[in-house]
Amino acid sequence: MSELSEVRDIVETVEITKAFDENVAVDHVSFNIKEGEIFGLLGPNGAGKTTMIKMLCTLLVPSDGIAKVGGHDVIKEPLKVKEIIGYVPQDITVDGFLTGRENLELQAALYNIKGEERERRIDEVLKLVQLRERADGLVNYFSGGMRRRLEIARGLMVEPQLLFLDEPTLGLDPASRKAVWNHVQKLRKKQKLAILMSTHYMEEADKLCDRIAIIDRGRFIALDTPTNLKKQIGGTIIEIELSKSINRMKKLLTQNNDYIDNINQINETTLQIEVQDSDTALPKIFKVASGADIDINQVRIRQPTLEDVFLHYTGKTLRDEDLNDPFSFVRSQISKRMRSF
Ligand SMILES: Nc1ncnc2c1ncn2[C@@H]1O[C@H](COP(=O)(O)OP(=O)(O)OP(=O)(O)O)[C@@H](O)[C@H]1O
Ligand SMILES: [Mg+2]
Repeated sequence: MSELSEVRDIVETVEITKAFDENVAVDHVSFNIKEGEIFGLLGPNGAGKTTMIKMLCTLLVPSDGIAKVGGHDVIKEPLKVKEIIGYVPQDITVDGFLTGRENLELQAALYNIKGEERERRIDEVLKLVQLRERADGLVNYFSGGMRRRLEIARGLMVEPQLLFLDEPTLGLDPASRKAVWNHVQKLRKKQKLAILMSTHYMEEADKLCDRIAIIDRGRFIALDTPTNLKKQIGGTIIEIELSKSINRMKKLLTQNNDYIDNINQINETTLQIEVQDSDTALPKIFKVASGADIDINQVRIRQPTLEDVFLHYTGKTLRDEDLNDPFSFVRSQISKRMRSF
């Protein structure tokens, strides 16, 4: 294990690792988060996002490496770490037998927030997640989206130096998701508040985060600002759709690739081609297709997204779930759990 530098970022890790038996969920990851920064962990199911967050929140003990939060070692000084963090877990933990307000009062009591300050914060967070009208109703009668909004409200009660948001908009409808985004953006304006959020929604990471680590199989495969990540993979994306011969077309383009940076097949009919200059690349692609008697049905030209960055580094797509459907992830989790029985 190497020693950390004296520079005090809000989060500092060196080779942080967590193994569950043979399964290395977080694999020797070193990174820092600056005060006031919104840092995103973007990755698919099982990438290691929650494990990373739990180690930094002192809920899981690392197998190896060093992690400090606010200068405090997560293993040696867990109480000091807990004093300065807020944590919104991925799984819903608010108490169904209490009202929304009572859940927040409980949180206030745990953190010794009293009197007018307590009322002010409760009122502020309820307004923020649009639960004022239902605050005195029993949480057992809340919908899933409402429970998640209450969970977020609870994490914000403590006004911490570092807030962990593990999949903060999971299960929310688009309007509630936007409300959360607005609040995260408001929070960042407060001095010294840093946020570490995980998500598998690229749009969310792109919109909110100052820097993003793309995480896959426990490793950071890229870490930069959203703009730089997109720049890293070159100029333009060309998508071509073919009704047949996709493997042959991919092979031909791969053999003939001085004008192509990368090629991936993203579904049964579509090839995604990264090029520096689409004006010169497109005629060449058509020439390859016509030379091999392959019909191209459709062509789309667009700027790179974070999805393309993920595909570039992993050869996989993040589009496992339909990103327009906020409940698809929840459904996939339920079916995953059912399969394990
Ligand atoms: N307590 C545990 N015991 C054993 N294995 C675990 C445990 N927690 C996580 N894992 C494994 O570690 C890996 C990373 O899981 P983790 O929950 O960190 O992923 P994630 O990126 O948060 O995924 P998701 O997007 O589904 O929430 C997975 O292979 C998971 O099965
Ligand atoms: Mg997770």
